[in-house]
Amino acid sequence: MISPKVLPELEKKVREIFAGDSSGHDWFHLDRVRAIALKLAAEEGADPSLVEASALLHDLEDHKREIRPGESLQEVCQSVGMEEAEIRRVRTIVEEVSFQGAGVATPVSSVEGAVVQDADRLDAIGAIGIARAFAFGGSRGRLLYDPDDPPVLHGDFDSYRSSRGATINHFYEKLLLLRDRMNTASARRMAQERHRFMELFLERFLREWEGRL
Ligand code: ADP
Ligand code: NI
Repeated sequence: MISPKVLPELEKKVREIFAGDSSGHDWFHLDRVRAIALKLAAEEGADPSLVEASALLHDLEDHKREIRPGESLQEVCQSVGMEEAEIRRVRTIVEEVSFQGAGVATPVSSVEGAVVQDADRLDAIGAIGIARAFAFGGSRGRLLYDPDDPPVLHGDFDSYRSSRGATINHFYEKLLLLRDRMNTASARRMAQERHRFMELFLERFLREWEGRL
């Protein structure tokens, strides 16, 4: 359990850090992940304060971000007065969150980790997931789509991380795989409709691209 009195301070801090992000990892992503994670936590009997702190902090040291001075997980947690044991629990959860490639298993070691991972993955799919994928792709100079560049099902984290493929590929390399990789039954249910919406979007995108509309 995380002392609930640190949560408002933590929120303020991460809000400042993520405010200006235009790659799909803005403050509102953290806010949505927190809301979904807390809902799942209530259903799964996970510790809500640990889930909330981990949801707020889950992208701080993400491999896609550059860590600025004073903004490491350790520094942010210490600055709001979290204890070392609390920081360690959060670290374990956030280190287990990220997708690492189609062929790489990403097991979680706690129910709190399970719901934070599910919440982050739910926010990567559906209408919001589509918007975030193109925002991220644009922020990294990626093409929307390249018919000559087929998707790759990455077998290791390094090849996934260094991929430069078009954003449409990301749907086949990650986003369409997430529904079947949810940890909890409620997240799996929530993923169904979002998954279907992405399938419809892709079908339509390719139809328009190929002039079949
Ligand atoms: P994860 O740690 O599992 O990657 P994040 O919360 O960091 O989860 O979210 C990743 C976001 O970045 C998603 O919305 C995803 O669509 C987007 N993203 C990551 N890699 C790519 C990529 N190669 N192309 C387009 N979007 C990407
Ligand atoms: Ni995230």
